[in-house]
Amino acid sequence: MMGEQTRRVAAPRTYLMCPPSYFAVTYAINPWMRPDADAPADAGLAMRQWAHLRQTYLGLGHTVRTIEPVPGLPDMVFAANGATVVGGTVLGVRFRHPERAAEAGAYLDWFRAEGWPVAGVPEQYNEGEGDILVAGQTLLAGYGFRTDEDAAGELAAVFGRPVVSLRLVDPRFYHLDTALCVLDAGTAMYYPAAFDDAGRATLASLFGELIEAKDEDAEVLGLNAVSDGYHVVLAAEATGLARQLSARGFAPVPVDLSELRKAGGSAKCCTLELRGARR
Ligand code: ARG
Repeated sequence: MMGEQTRRVAAPRTYLMCPPSYFAVTYAINPWMRPDADAPADAGLAMRQWAHLRQTYLGLGHTVRTIEPVPGLPDMVFAANGATVVGGTVLGVRFRHPERAAEAGAYLDWFRAEGWPVAGVPEQYNEGEGDILVAGQTLLAGYGFRTDEDAAGELAAVFGRPVVSLRLVDPRFYHLDTALCVLDAGTAMYYPAAFDDAGRATLASLFGELIEAKDEDAEVLGLNAVSDGYHVVLAAEATGLARQLSARGFAPVPVDLSELRKAGGSAKCCTLELRGARR
């Protein structure tokens, strides 16, 4: 029906975050990272931006758990890569790059200490919620840069849900969560150029409503956003995307994460959703 707006509904979430106490750009494993940059990441500012992101979630009524950061793991702030948690079950991760490998055990230890059922550690490279997104009952698995295409089989076996694979083709959008954001079970926003023809067709068949991000919004990592079904927390610079979200009945919540972006991450990367958490 013309002009009819779907009503968007927020649902309270539980997130895991890791303070950027040891954050720095000391190696380059994606095109955003420049260890020799003229304007290096400001660790103090990164911490303030991260704290503001956490406060933003709390202000929206969400629960935020935190994990103790480990010295020598500068990317551990990117909690999305720490696990995949669906229906109260935890699957650990296996990082492609040795620089981040030790984060896998640190996150697993946290889940075990908290009494979560841990299904195991993947055989294939699997960078957790960076590459694995949830849309209703379906898991979406990105591959091409970090997570292996064959990780899909392990995901299906562990979670007992259909898994749809999506090939990523642009190295700037190396994790699925930099190119696609699930807003609710039937709605997503994405950057078409980050996918191949098959992937674009898959997304069109999965989602009744798809918002296409413009280059300038994707290039500030605006798609690395966190939706609770109504509020969408995203990079402040992604102003065009914020307007598109408002026009569709969502409430954009802009946050400044300039320093974390110097490592290739934004809001979503800093946030692991604990689905099925006891609240
Ligand atoms: N520097 C990190 C890496 O390249 C950034 C990870 C961003 N995380 C994400 N979920 N996209 O691995």
